[in-house]
Amino acid sequence: MSSSFQAPIGTHDVLAPQSALWEGLVATFADFAFRFGFTLALTPMFEEIGVFNRGIGENSDVATKEMYVFQDRGERTYALRPEGTASVVRAFVQHQPTTPYKAWYVTPAFRYERPQAGRYRQHHQLGVEALGSDDPAIDVEVIALAWRFYGALGLTRVRLLINSMGHDECRGRYVDVLRGYLEEHRDQLCDEHQLSWSTNPLRVLDCKKAPCVAVINDGPLLPDFLCADCAAHFEAVRRGLAELGIESVLEARLVRGFDYYTRTTFEFVADALDGAQNAIGGGGRYDGLAEQLGGKPTSGIGFGSGIERLLLAREAEGITSNLINRTIDVFIVDTTGANVASVLADELRREGFAVERAFDARSMKSQMKLADRSGARMALLIGPQELESGQITMRDLRSDDFEQAQQRVAREDLRRALRDRLDK
Ligand code: HAM
Repeated sequence: MSSSFQAPIGTHDVLAPQSALWEGLVATFADFAFRFGFTLALTPMFEEIGVFNRGIGENSDVATKEMYVFQDRGERTYALRPEGTASVVRAFVQHQPTTPYKAWYVTPAFRYERPQAGRYRQHHQLGVEALGSDDPAIDVEVIALAWRFYGALGLTRVRLLINSMGHDECRGRYVDVLRGYLEEHRDQLCDEHQLSWSTNPLRVLDCKKAPCVAVINDGPLLPDFLCADCAAHFEAVRRGLAELGIESVLEARLVRGFDYYTRTTFEFVADALDGAQNAIGGGGRYDGLAEQLGGKPTSGIGFGSGIERLLLAREAEGITSNLINRTIDVFIVDTTGANVASVLADELRREGFAVERAFDARSMKSQMKLADRSGARMALLIGPQELESGQITMRDLRSDDFEQAQQRVAREDLRRALRDRLDK
């Protein structure tokens, strides 16, 4: 009995034509990141487990339940990256680039979650991290980058939810009060949090189950506990966003899933998507993370955005525009059996044209079918006649008018004729 393999549960192969949207998304993001002064950072897909445990928090859901942890043959314990921030900060600590250090990345991220629409075991993130500045203006810049990028993707139904987690001290004061409050209401929490509320009370704020939501709705709110400095920082960020015309909605219960967050935290929600998986991006400050990973105290802020969810959100909003031009210019149909197609394809590609051709000495009819299927704008026909006369027949594959569509040109005039016809 033969059996074939499938991609692992919760993962996806991305093939054409869908992959062209991915290329467009990444290229658009790379362009935005460049224009905002971010440079590309590439870090390993796996790290010593401590990088993530210390960074995102040993008690976070991701660290306790979702990380892909393995031992290599040297018996070192590693984890596949569940998110992008901790690795970039580890690299920052290791290499000490000058600050502010502004990096962007595109990366797969691995989380052992229950797969469903918009939630995968391998998803892909576009993100940025900016290290070494406390200035609220850099918070504004990071958020604005995401916002303008979403705009460039054509998304219109996106809301920016924002909160401040304060720094260690104000958050500590809040957590004490919250813990007392949760203790009083522990019997009313969901089953899971009746057991775990005291380990990390902030996680209860994230719980979507009705009993916890009801308790939290009447509970103490983080922004009421901010010290003067953190409150001023938060105020400056919101004012800065407003000056750019970016509306932020205060969401006092937004705490996000990782322990490293301090001060500004935010999430971008796509209203066109189903409620459970509608976060297309999220991020915030992590002013203590570099120190936790063994570096000098250095503040930082960034965001990550799920590529799959961005594409789902575009689809849900009915946006069909391409983000990048991926049209084949010419398809060479060569029935001479000589090397003409190879030579011509090489020449045109070096000139900047996108060129496809057939292989395996197919018939004219079969090659024309391939040409149509390739989406090429123009076919270049080379048969024995053309070979002998030093000419090439150009056929516009988008035209219905046979007379108009076909034109013979001398071999040496081909490039010019193509440029004219293709507007290149
Ligand atoms: P996160 O909110 O866990 O934050 O993930 C960022 C984005 O990745 C989410 O908003 C969502 O679009 C997407 N995402 C997360 N998990 C999944 C999944 N299982 N399937 C599909 N998409 C998913 C972070 O990872 C932080 N590192 C963001 C950050 C950067 N904070 C500061 N700098």
